[in-house]
Amino acid sequence: MTKEETYKSLLPQVESLCEGESDMIAKMANVSALLHSEFGFWWTGFYRVANGELLLGPFQGPLACVHIGYGKGVCGTAWKERRTVVVPDVEEFPGHIACSSESRSEIVVPVFSGDDIIAVLDIDSRELATFDDTDAHWLEQIVKSIS
Ligand code: SME
Repeated sequence: MTKEETYKSLLPQVESLCEGESDMIAKMANVSALLHSEFGFWWTGFYRVANGELLLGPFQGPLACVHIGYGKGVCGTAWKERRTVVVPDVEEFPGHIACSSESRSEIVVPVFSGDDIIAVLDIDSRELATFDDTDAHWLEQIVKSIS
């Protein structure tokens, strides 16, 4: 299966998993587990916007930093710039926050509720250049089920 086909088959699963569920943390937990197990990423999880910063939420993978400031790292940049950020090589991203020295590439997708960003989905890979526009497109659809 291409990754596009995998995402295509995952999207309805995510939608039915989240349908009728109002608790966003529960939804984030299942969505991160599903993406992580399906693709075998290194780290897959959410940071929630709380008290003016990003706070670690449900995730799969190794331990991660708990607080990320507005505009800091890849996550804080996606939040500040209100867009998906694809990083083919984390060493080339100024201000990248290295929670794990194993991470080589990363994608961060904002989770919108109306006009507000309520969280970001962060995925790390141990390979360079894992993520591209295909991941951005499908992950943006997937996170719509969270809010
Ligand atoms: N690398 C992220 C920090 C979070 S960890 O990757 C889980 C960043 O630069 O924002």
